[in-house]
Amino acid sequence: MKKDDDILKYFKPNLKDARRRTKKVTEMTSFEIDSKYLGLGNHKKYLIQTYGCQGNEADSEIISGILEKMGFTKALSPEDSDLIILNTCAIRENAENRIWGEVGRLQMYQKNNPNLIIGLAGCMPQEPYVVERILKSQPNVGLVFGTHNLHMLPEYISEAFYSKERVIEVYSKEGEIVENLPKVRNHQFKAWVNIMFGCDEFCTYCIVPYTRGKERSRRPESIIKEVEELVAGGYQEITLLGQNVNAYGKDFQDIDYTLGDLLIALDKTGISRIRYTTSHPRDVDLKTVLAMRDCKSVMPHLHLPVQSGSDEVLRRMNRRYTKDMYMEKINMLKEHVKGISITTDIIVGFPEESDEDFKKTLELVKEANFEGAYTFIYSKRKGTPAASFEDSISDDVKKERLLKLNEVINDGFKKGNLRFLNEVVEVLVDGPSEKNDEILAGYSEHNKLVNFKGPKELIGKIVKVKITKALTWSLQGELYD
Ligand code: SAH
Ligand code: SF4
Ligand code: F3S
Repeated sequence: MKKDDDILKYFKPNLKDARRRTKKVTEMTSFEIDSKYLGLGNHKKYLIQTYGCQGNEADSEIISGILEKMGFTKALSPEDSDLIILNTCAIRENAENRIWGEVGRLQMYQKNNPNLIIGLAGCMPQEPYVVERILKSQPNVGLVFGTHNLHMLPEYISEAFYSKERVIEVYSKEGEIVENLPKVRNHQFKAWVNIMFGCDEFCTYCIVPYTRGKERSRRPESIIKEVEELVAGGYQEITLLGQNVNAYGKDFQDIDYTLGDLLIALDKTGISRIRYTTSHPRDVDLKTVLAMRDCKSVMPHLHLPVQSGSDEVLRRMNRRYTKDMYMEKINMLKEHVKGISITTDIIVGFPEESDEDFKKTLELVKEANFEGAYTFIYSKRKGTPAASFEDSISDDVKKERLLKLNEVINDGFKKGNLRFLNEVVEVLVDGPSEKNDEILAGYSEHNKLVNFKGPKELIGKIVKVKITKALTWSLQGELYD
């Protein structure tokens, strides 16, 4: 194994710096690739494996974009690769364990191809213990960078390939917003559009504010330009991305501009569909809700994570709202955006969550009529405040709660689907269904999965479908004209 001083680039993260927030206005720069890096990837192939949230999927499109600018092409398999990058997620322990397992598994390809470089990117390298572990016991990982330095990739790649030394560089803090990063988008008519980065909420269980840095918004004109280009390129749907998109614009000091304003501006670009995720309930405001009502392109679905129905648990999670405040937001949404579908995230087994607390979560799920949810068992994250909370609830109790919660959530899922029975809905056709090549699949305006029979030429188009059957997870229907 190499000693630390054999590492060419070496920059470790620390959580103390990651936690710090400054009032400094975020600067914008524009990505330019130095011509000396062009062609470095010629005749080399890369593979990216993406874990975690849509933010990571969007970042992987940028990593691909940069690599292809350097001359790399996409590999078909690990055997065929010169570079494999794992774009990682640190949100829960089981997510990390899967990734460590994969790091180990990929070693076998280095036996046949000693020049294969395995890289770790994304949120895990932002955690100090991850970098320590790579240094101590994962000599097969040759390249490590984090969420704040994607734009440095050409330099790192050049060093990793040509110096044959390990390159480990992770910044603890965010820097400027880098515009004009090249992208290879994974989809031809649906696109991710980052509108902001980072998170300042500091929910006590969550690692994201440490791995993604402070909240900072892209300038509206940059976002509008990107969407105009997508429209010109034939894109039908965009999903605006951020960890807390309802805080969009709060960091601007020269203009008063929020998510509601952005939705109105983007509606005018002519894009057919706009979605946005993720929202923090506390920041949902009337202006945004009215923009959802008034802009035809803004879809009537909102993912609004609640996490718990107990005020006491919410307080210890530092969510800064009560169950009643959450319900007020839901009612405001339902009042203005007729028929809106609401989905959520819920954590069970947060430290010292009592049976009573859990019951309140079940009650809230029924009251809010969620039409879907991602549900999780709490996972302790090193460095977060909740990691030091007493946690005496047994794993069995946590698992039982998750099962019970999922039953109630599934009822809501089915109920949400049933309301479209015999209705005609608009579907953006994604492609053939996973199970049956003759069936097309796509999503309705309310984000319901719809399957129906139709010709492949409809892929990428928005079509009308009459719903004939409502299942728990999907709708079935017939083309309607
Ligand atoms: N910014 C988004 C998404 C954060 S991560 C938001 O605030 O909603 C997605 C979900 O993972 C969270 O909503 C939460 O339900 C869950 N999550 C985050 N940290 C977790 C942890 N330590 N253990 C279990 N679930 C967690
Ligand atoms: Fe994590 Fe909370 Fe920020 Fe979401 S809002 S990313 S849960 S700290
Ligand atoms: Fe995971 Fe990082 Fe996203 S921790 S959920 S990839 S912000």
